[in-house]
Formats: sequence, C-alpha cells, structure tokens
Amino acid sequence: MDQTTYREGLEGIVAAHTRLSHVDGKKGELLIAGFALEELAQRASYEEVAYLLWHDDLPDADSLAKLARQLSARRALPQATLDLLRIAAGHKTAPMDALRMAAGTLDLDSKQEAREQALDIVARLPTIVAAYARLLSGSEPIEANPALGHAANYLYMLHGQAPSPAQTRALETYLNTVVDHGLNASTFTARVIVSTGSDLVSAIVGAIGALKGPLHGGAPGPALDMVFEIATADNAQRTLRAKLERGERLMGFGHRVYKVRDPRAEVLSAAAAKLYEQNEQIAGDRSLYELARFVEEQAVALLAEFKPGRNLQTNVEFYTALLLHGLGLSSDLFSPTFAIGRTPGWLAHCFEQQGHGRLIRPSSEYVGERGRRWASIEQRSTGR
Ligand code: ACO
Repeated sequence: MDQTTYREGLEGIVAAHTRLSHVDGKKGELLIAGFALEELAQRASYEEVAYLLWHDDLPDADSLAKLARQLSARRALPQATLDLLRIAAGHKTAPMDALRMAAGTLDLDSKQEAREQALDIVARLPTIVAAYARLLSGSEPIEANPALGHAANYLYMLHGQAPSPAQTRALETYLNTVVDHGLNASTFTARVIVSTGSDLVSAIVGAIGALKGPLHGGAPGPALDMVFEIATADNAQRTLRAKLERGERLMGFGHRVYKVRDPRAEVLSAAAAKLYEQNEQIAGDRSLYELARFVEEQAVALLAEFKPGRNLQTNVEFYTALLLHGLGLSSDLFSPTFAIGRTPGWLAHCFEQQGHGRLIRPSSEYVGERGRRWASIEQRSTGR
C-alpha cells in the first residue's frame, strides 16, 4: 500500500462501501438507499425510513406497524436518565451536551442484543431531548403518547399538545432529510467506534459529540441568529458584508462535498415554504420566511464575490433553522433534533460496519523530530 497518500481532512479518501446513501457533490444529488431524497423525504414516515435503512427495503404494512409498536413501547426513560437530566438542567447544561450525557445511560441494561439496543436508542433520544427542554424551562417532562408516531410524539412531548398533520409532516420531512449523508464526520465516528468491537451506545455517544461542532451539526442555531441579527431586508447586504470583511463564516453556507446547492436545502426550503404559507407554523411568521430567502440570495452572491471559485452555496443548516423555528423549537434544540434525525442512519452504518468486521485504523505520517536525547529535569529547568 502507498504509505505516502495524505489528504488533510481525509478529503476524497474512500473509507467505506455503503448501501445506505450516496452524495454527488457536483450534481447536488443525494440518494437514500436507492431513493432520490426528493422522492422519499416528503412522503415517508420516520419509521419507514428507519426500516428502509436497517433492512434495505421499504416495510410492508405489518412490518411498519411492528416497528412503530416496538419504538412506541420503549419511549419511557429509565429513572437514572431522568435524574441525570434534572441535575444537568440545574447546571443549565446545553441541550446537546445533556443529550450526549443522557445517551450514555441508555445501556444500563447492557445484556440487550444490538438490534434491541438500537430500538431503545431511537425510541428514547426524542424523550431525552423533549424532557430536557421542559426541565430547562422549569416545567415537568410529559409522558409519551402511544397513539402518536415518532415525529408527532416528539412535538407532543415538547409542546404538550398534539401537532397538526401539517406540522408532523414538516418535522418528518426534516428528520428524513438528515437521516443519512455518506461518510460525514459523525457517521465516520460511529463506524470507527463499532469497528473496534465496541457497542452501539458508545457509537451514538461519540457521534453526538462529533455532530455538535459548528462545522457539522452545530450551525443551524447561528444561521437563524444571523437572520434575526439582520432583522430587515435593507440590513442584509451591510451585515453580511461586514461579517465577511471580518473574516467570519456565514453559517448555513458552504459544504465539504456540495459545490452546488445542497439538495437537502432544496427539500427543506420547500417544506418550510409549505409550513409558513399554510400558516401552520407554531413560531415566526411569513415575513421571517421571506427575510430568510432574501438573506440566502444576498449571502450566496456575496460569497461568490469574497470567495471566487469556491462555489459556496446554501447547505442543509440554513433551512433547518427556519423549519425547526417554525415548529416552535428554540435554537438550542436544533442540533439535538438533527441528532434524532440522524440516529437511524448512524445505527445503520454501525450494522454495516459490523457486517464488514474490519477495524478502521488509518496511518499517520510522522513529521516530528528524531534523535532527541533524554535530559534530566534539572538539566531542563536550567535552560539547557
Ligand atoms: N462563509 C465564509 N467563507 C467560507 C464559508 C462560509 N460559510 N465556507 C467556506 N468558506 C471559505 C473558507 O474561509 C475558505 O476560504 P479561503 O480559502 O480563502 O481560506 C474557503 O471557503 C474553503 O473553505 P474550507 O474550510 O476549506 O472548506 P471546507 O470544505 O473545509 O468547509 C464547511 C466546509 C466547514 C461546512 C464550511 O463551508 C463552513 O465553515 N461553513 C459554515 C458552517 C456551516 O454552515 N456548517 C454546516 C455544514 S452542513 C453539515 O455539516 C450538516
């Protein structure tokens, strides 16, 4: 093997064969288990997409009902998880950190086999996030409603009332849109962890940690903050230009793989348009949606001016922010909700990795000193 191949950030290096998703950054295409994102995201339920990724096929009615029942039966949190969330809320821990900590408690019953553990993880992450959001705001967690599907129940546990079909559809479209995306940083993290023979809970905790960073899943909050900061269309040019002149990055733009508009931004902008146009949003109004569209246009034009040849386009996070805000989520819940959407994908990659069974262990090239000689502590402190 060629030991000299080195690419910063592993850019362009193929490190897995996968049947789960395919990202074509030049054409702006995303396939999820063979389906174009646009075909799947706005039609399927969250449970259908999870089944698709875990079984490489759409479920029939019985299999879908079974999966929905299995998930619904597992939503309640262990007492230890709830206790931890109460302590975290007392410290005003950020929701993404609380999710990471609480996810680590989900294998208290460590004798479960992997598929059972996967169901527990998928079923309980929304309960963790919703319970924590309520604790943070000084109210008590709400018990899951078994009559509701995964997405609708998440909104119910957050807001205390069942969402409308249009609100459920909007959230489901979002969760489906982010379910999987090639070998992104958090998915790679999960695969590395299970490749050592470690377990699914460890993989999900690691993946949540990787997703948290602002260069990955941490961008939608700042993207919305930017729209709020701009506040009116006539401020857009000036504010965005000033940011770029200060060398700041515009959140919600640019992508390692996509050099055209992220297809997920396309799907989510249509979903956000529907939500706001039907006046079905829980927070925000039509003018916010229109402002965001204007900011997007201005930002893309300014990025072309400031970073010519870089093809910096809108990424998934920009419309995530607008959609989730419209569903009444505060911006600190955007990344945890992204994690809820990505979890079936992370787990599907874990299963795929376990199927291959090969330890992921790349090489590094040593660029440090050689031939150093040991100096005693006295020699070091006398300024050798
Ligand atoms: N705003 C301003 N400039 C940018 C932006 C941006 N959003 N994105 C990239 N650039 C610039 C960089 O400063 C760099 O300029 P330079 O060559 O003059 O130094 C050039 O474009 C290339 O940037 P890289 O960092 O090499 O591109 P990379 O592929 O590593 O970055 C990334 C991708 C991290 C997403 C980047 O575009 C970014 O920071 N975007 C803002 C944060 C964001 O939206 N993150 C969410 C990504 S989507 C997701 O992970 C789910």
